[in-house]
Amino acid sequence: MATLRLGDTAPDFTAVTSEGTLNFYDYLGDGWGILFSHPADFTPVCTTELGTAAKFKDEFDKRNVKMMALSVDGAESHKEWIKDINETQQTVVNFPIIADEDRKVSDLYDMIHPNANDTLTVRSVFIIGSDKKVKLILTYPASTGRNFYELLRVVDSLQLTANHKVATPANWKNGEKVVVSPAIPTEEAKQIFSRGVEEVKPYLRLTPDPTA
Ligand code: BEZ
Repeated sequence: MATLRLGDTAPDFTAVTSEGTLNFYDYLGDGWGILFSHPADFTPVCTTELGTAAKFKDEFDKRNVKMMALSVDGAESHKEWIKDINETQQTVVNFPIIADEDRKVSDLYDMIHPNANDTLTVRSVFIIGSDKKVKLILTYPASTGRNFYELLRVVDSLQLTANHKVATPANWKNGEKVVVSPAIPTEEAKQIFSRGVEEVKPYLRLTPDPTA
């Protein structure tokens, strides 16, 4: 399939998972989603990532984001691996892991990069909005575990900028000042953002986080 890009509709699928057969869109409902792939079961970095994801589930729930992981091994293997993850990471894996043995979902989302490895998936992340559009794509190599604080931070930015005429600056965290959208003239911005607009340059205007 053609490479997925930001703004594209996230492909729907029905897949066997560690929690039974699930349809992706039904699983997401009208909320947001994170779909992330792992190279293989019983691998060390993936074990820490899935344990970390489980510990972050409450934070994703607060933001109405459902997680679904993927690995190219089978559901029975996933269930055995989950026991190890729960034991070693002191958590309970509380979201489904797709058993993508036939690589159907991996191909749909272009998660196999043959010049990195021709059978295993790389560490892909797709954040999908409630409109089912792809909002963020990240690709990490197998050897680098992902930063789940960053994924939460991006969700915060995406959800804020979806609802307000702002963008978020480098290293922004929830509650910090945001950038007024470049499309809005400063005089109009002052009407919209009653808590003040600081004009650093005509093209760089800051305002308090409108949700803080
Ligand atoms: C891991 O998850 O630990 C891993 C998987 C494939 C290659 C390297 C590391």
